[in-house]
Amino acid sequence: MSAHDIARARQILASAKRVTALTGAGVSAESGIPTFRDAQTGLWAQFDPMRLASPEGFRADPTLVWRWYAARRARVRAVEPNPAHRALAAAAPRFEQFTLITQNVDGLHARAGSRDAIELHGNILRTKCFDECGVVFESPEELPAGEPPRCPRCRAYLRPDVVWFGEMLDPAVLDRAERASAAADAMLVVGTSGLVYPAAGLPLAARRNGVPVLIVNPDESELDPIAEVCIRARAGEALPRLFAAD
Ligand code: APR
Repeated sequence: MSAHDIARARQILASAKRVTALTGAGVSAESGIPTFRDAQTGLWAQFDPMRLASPEGFRADPTLVWRWYAARRARVRAVEPNPAHRALAAAAPRFEQFTLITQNVDGLHARAGSRDAIELHGNILRTKCFDECGVVFESPEELPAGEPPRCPRCRAYLRPDVVWFGEMLDPAVLDRAERASAAADAMLVVGTSGLVYPAAGLPLAARRNGVPVLIVNPDESELDPIAEVCIRARAGEALPRLFAAD
């Protein structure tokens, strides 16, 4: 992480009134949540997340998919937000407008104190009716890990309230994220490979509107070519420095 890059990024943020941040799995990596494209760990190593996280995968084996999410819920509940989540939550009130958009479904931004984060891909701590009859609720801790429970209203299976591969994002959620990205004075992009759209299109929309894009990622990402500054560092290391008081 070069001091020059940090200084440049701090200078851009210091003069920004409206900041939009887009986070990906990398912002939760230092909490112990493996990123999506890391090899699946342990029991799940032999399964392809693209298959498990899909309506087809759920229809093919609802119990397997439900168990995978039960394990992920338990893991998320067992970890804590890290300094990156906390730095974003603490920085928000310092700006006229701070919009946090996340691709993560782990709820760690909210637990770190970020209010009203835009959860583009939903949240595994919420459960909904597979047949979309309207039933959605916060997942209680004691949700069983066996066969998925049945919807109390229509008896269809329940499923995690997340956006699966092949499913559309909520248009209203995406519209709010797009508007916040295009209207920002600076856009911070933290811990994402930039491989998955429409999320990866948000920094591109910002750049098209002349918004400087600041990337925090220890590795190269698909979005690097549009960045004003690329900070090669872990989020838990860089974000507290980016937002440290002068
Ligand atoms: N700090 C910052 N970035 C990190 C860290 C860290 N400590 N550790 C890893 N990274 C970076 C990796 O270099 C990688 O670029 O985080 C990124 C994680 O990329 P992905 O695993 O592709 O996760 P993400 O970009 O969030 O995936 C987007 O795709 O799999 C779907 O729906 C899923 O929301 C997910 C979406």
